[in-house]
Amino acid sequence: MRQSAPVSVLHSDGGLRLWIIPRYDDVRAALFDRRFAQDVRRAQALADSRVEGVNLGTEITHMLSSDPPDHTRLRRVVQAAFSRKRVEAMRPMVERITLELLDGLDAAAARHTTRTTTATVDLIRDFAFPLPILVVCELLGFPPEDRDLYRKWSTAIVTQEGDHAAFRRAVQEMGSYVLAVADRRIRRNDRPADLLTELLAARERGELTDDEIVGMVALLLIGGHETTVNLLGTSCLALLRDPGQAAWLRADLTRMPRAVEEFLRYDSPICMATTRFTTEPVDVDGVEIPQDEFVLLSLGAANRDPARFQDPDRLILDRRDAGHLAFGGGIHRCLGALLGKLETEIALTALLARFPGTTLACQERDLRWRNTMMLRGLEALPLTL
Ligand code: HEM
Repeated sequence: MRQSAPVSVLHSDGGLRLWIIPRYDDVRAALFDRRFAQDVRRAQALADSRVEGVNLGTEITHMLSSDPPDHTRLRRVVQAAFSRKRVEAMRPMVERITLELLDGLDAAAARHTTRTTTATVDLIRDFAFPLPILVVCELLGFPPEDRDLYRKWSTAIVTQEGDHAAFRRAVQEMGSYVLAVADRRIRRNDRPADLLTELLAARERGELTDDEIVGMVALLLIGGHETTVNLLGTSCLALLRDPGQAAWLRADLTRMPRAVEEFLRYDSPICMATTRFTTEPVDVDGVEIPQDEFVLLSLGAANRDPARFQDPDRLILDRRDAGHLAFGGGIHRCLGALLGKLETEIALTALLARFPGTTLACQERDLRWRNTMMLRGLEALPLTL
């Protein structure tokens, strides 16, 4: 698609079309172009006017599914919590959680290793999933022991295709849970220094409604772990596949920040696309997309565009052509980008240092990928440490 045209119709159902933009320059331009809008309620009304039975998930709304001025207001409430200074202050907490999880992996491996068999662990289940969810729980002030519930809701919400009832149930359960945690805080007059306290203070000032608190927490819980889990898994797999690049990195682990940028480009966690709809006709490199059309901006295709990146299908950890779009761009550019990178840098550095002889514990063809159109990530990554 990237080679043949700047824009293609990926899918057409009655009056509803889904366009896709795959080239780097065009995706980047669209991310910064306000004629590509996000508001999920307007998008739903648009879909309803074309075909029946399309559910875009209006039961939950948040900054990522809003346009200005709502988007500006919602983002402003939490923006300061993701500043460079506040994220740097989270470093000791992320390191502590990482080391605890690695000790757990070590202990599990020791328990199951005998003279004749070597223990395997599932890096996703035992490390890549708990790490970002525990970090986001600390940030928000949510009980970490309920993390399997968050994972269940999150999976139902991000893999909503085809099962809207499960989506709706997850949103309802999550909403009641979030408000119950908030009420408990208020009854006990408990105000620890975390994001939930800040959200409740914003509600007191009349800046947020209950629904907006639920949407915010859901977005942070989901956005804060679904992406990082996948990045940790795909980065480890990429290193296992390419011993030359792994050796380069291991020789000097201070190279990690640059390597993480390349992992983000190479296997972008929000890979297939982020969606928008047009509020006016837009000319994309000579092809006109009419007004009121749904458009996928393919971050993954853009990040492998040979017109922008040299040898794009190769993992080159000391690549100099920076500028990937794995965090999007424009007003919706990832709010948690610094935190996601910090977690990945700390986690991969600690993993490589602690388990230098790690190998894949299955055939590569047996690896299973998550069944979602938006995210690129492994279901499981069995490793021998
Ligand atoms: C938005 C990717 C980690 C919170 C986004 C977007 C992308 C993205 C591509 C923009 C989507 C769009 O324009 O439609 C990633 C990747 C991550 C990551 C690759 C990990 C490596 C995080 C973390 C948090 C977070 C750790 C918070 C704890 C958010 C929020 C938005 C967002 C709140 C919405 C911003 C807005 O609408 O203004 N992320 N993300 N992300 N991300 Fe991330």
